[in-house]
Amino acid sequence: MSVDINDDVDRPTRQALLASVHRHTGITMTEKKWPLLQGRLRRRLQALSLDSYRDYLDVLDSRADEATYFIDLVTTNETSFFRTPRIWDYLWQQFLPRWHNEHAGSILQIWSAAASSGEEAYSLAMLCEEYRERHPAFRYRILATDIAKYVVGAGEIGLYQGRSIDGLRRSRPAFFEKYFAKIDDRFAVVPALRANVSFREHNLYRRLADPLRIDLVLLRNVLIYFDDAGQQAVVDNVASSLVPDGVLIIGESESLSRHRTGFDFEQPLIYRKQEAMRERRA
Ligand SMILES: C[S@@+](CC[C@H](N)C(=O)[O-])C[C@H]1O[C@@H](n2cnc3c(N)ncnc32)[C@H](O)[C@@H]1O
Repeated sequence: MSVDINDDVDRPTRQALLASVHRHTGITMTEKKWPLLQGRLRRRLQALSLDSYRDYLDVLDSRADEATYFIDLVTTNETSFFRTPRIWDYLWQQFLPRWHNEHAGSILQIWSAAASSGEEAYSLAMLCEEYRERHPAFRYRILATDIAKYVVGAGEIGLYQGRSIDGLRRSRPAFFEKYFAKIDDRFAVVPALRANVSFREHNLYRRLADPLRIDLVLLRNVLIYFDDAGQQAVVDNVASSLVPDGVLIIGESESLSRHRTGFDFEQPLIYRKQEAMRERRA
């Protein structure tokens, strides 16, 4: 049954909900973003049969499991396969040959941080599989993490449809044919691709619990949601899992220029961790 929700929300309640977004995710939302947040929370109020945002705030503050739903609703999970073509050209033409040449016998460790529903991680896996076909000794693992439980689950399942898969079918038809199998009206990632990708929930405001020695991290289109202090904290956390000389790739609307990061600029969007970078503890 549909509930009549009171859309007239007082300032303290609005402020408290906007602050809750920051507390749970680190995402900064100003008062200007209230209509967006209100729209996203509306269906949750309906699902809980609540008619006021104040009541929802009480639920969020009193029920531990509500945060999971809240985080799923307030995050923006827009993504696509092979987003930003020039970084994939860089990985294929420069990063993979150089890394392989310098690390014979090692396993390339990649982290897709803020992976959303997995398109970025599986794009990396397709590229690595292609590279492995040409260099059979090459081995790799990909860790895909995101704060939102729903998208982590979707990535793990690896079933795609609509805009997401249509884009890949158009831009890289050979990859689409090779790495996806049709199941009803959706397309499943083939097991060979999935075998090297693992998914995990992770908040970038924390360090990875088991800090792997990551060689390459994609931290793309997520820093834009954080304020300067948040960006600095997240970049420091990510850097702590990277090997010296490891590569960090950010999104097109993002920049590290305002921060003290211990990374050297290599090319637009691409940074390399300084050999002598000392860890800064938050
Ligand atoms: C716009 S998507 C970017 C996905 C992908 N990296 C890309 O560039 O296509 C941003 C993702 O960041 C995630 N995110 C937001 N805040 C986060 C946090 N504090 N920790 C980890 N992930 C976060 C969101 O859940 C969302 O899936």
